[in-house]
Amino acid sequence: MAAEEDCVKFSVLFVCLGNICRSPTAEAVFRKLAADAGLAERIHIDSAGTIGFHHGAPPDGRAAAAALARGFDLGSLRARRVVAEDFARFDLILAMDEDNLADLERIRPDDARARLALLLEYGGDSGTKGVPDPYYGGKNGFEQVLDLVTAACAGLVEDVRRTLR
Ligand code: 4NP
Repeated sequence: MAAEEDCVKFSVLFVCLGNICRSPTAEAVFRKLAADAGLAERIHIDSAGTIGFHHGAPPDGRAAAAALARGFDLGSLRARRVVAEDFARFDLILAMDEDNLADLERIRPDDARARLALLLEYGGDSGTKGVPDPYYGGKNGFEQVLDLVTAACAGLVEDVRRTLR
């Protein structure tokens, strides 16, 4: 364990509302893209929700199925609520939408270490600042989440690679 922690150089937390659709998707997509880039050992990756309603639950079955069809496995993930300590533990906390960002700003401690930003600052669709919540919609919403999250996570991998160089 110590050896693994010794080589971690960067940490990122993805945050949405429930931590069962968008942020676990981002966690799994970023984990795979970072591994493909040879950075798996150097980045600590996690996700959380601003509400604790789904605490301990696996990802939404629709999100998991859509992700798996593109080669991203959400199977081992379990929901948790974001906590104040996350602002000390992580270098970067990325909100899926502007509501999530506002909720995070409300609980951010004054001495927070983490930089707080929107995931789509790193790529995606210039027409939208947030990843739309797919929970109450149809299948297309989950495909759109994957499109936006994959594009942004590709940009994030490049950004982290430059940071760690
Ligand atoms: P997520 O989606 O924030 O992308 O995980 C949602 C999950 C659950 C709820 C809303 C959005 N909910 O109202 O329970």
